[in-house]
Amino acid sequence: MNKIPVQIFADAQAAAAQLATETAELIRHNDSSAKATVLGLATGASPILFYQELIRLHNEQGLTFANVITFNLDEYAGLPPEHPESYWSFMHNNLFDHIDIKPENIHLPSGTVADADIPAHCKQYEQAILNAGGIDQQILGIGRTGHIGFNEPGSQKNSRTRAIQLNRITREDAAPAFGGINQVPTAAITMGCGTILAARRIVLMAWGTGKAPILKEAIQGPLNDEVSASFLQEHTDAVCYLDQEAASML
Ligand code: F6R
Repeated sequence: MNKIPVQIFADAQAAAAQLATETAELIRHNDSSAKATVLGLATGASPILFYQELIRLHNEQGLTFANVITFNLDEYAGLPPEHPESYWSFMHNNLFDHIDIKPENIHLPSGTVADADIPAHCKQYEQAILNAGGIDQQILGIGRTGHIGFNEPGSQKNSRTRAIQLNRITREDAAPAFGGINQVPTAAITMGCGTILAARRIVLMAWGTGKAPILKEAIQGPLNDEVSASFLQEHTDAVCYLDQEAASML
């Protein structure tokens, strides 16, 4: 029934610990042959425990990020990096400020590019991923609209990094952090579905009953552009790491 492989964990902490261990192995393996590791990263609640585990491995086991290059999925349009709700702030607060990654190896789309320059900015982002050798491991959450990145319903399978209007449900989910839906940006720059699917390995993390219905659609429903996470069904190395609640409708 599951068209995307699923691993169910006792809780989110256990999943985060396993993913951090796997990520550390990938980094150490690449380090041993002087190869950079390219990680695609997500923001939001889902990856926070995973980032905490990476920080712990850095502090307690000397895991180094000196040879890691990162590309984040998305950024809100209109938010400068220093805005407390920008994804730039999120990533620095939750991960980058606590590890030894080189600032020049960190990439996020910019939320403050002038409208006319957005297409060129998005092309440069795609090119930077290619120049880094492509993404070794992409981390994803899933929105209640089924989005991965900010690929809202209707996003094409072969879509690339671009500006997108945010769905009302997505903006409602972000409203508490912004102090009301009217403060939530209406648009974002996001990697496309095609950009995400080009990653060599993809791990989607989801916790809690709130994600259960959309996970059922993405994992067991038809592949379709109303649920962009369903595109993972066609990837040869994609997996969903779920807690019991998130997996409860499978
Ligand atoms: C974040 C992103 C989004 C989130 C998704 C789930 O960079 O691109 O797709 O992963 O909205 O968010 P949380 O984890 O907060 O439930």
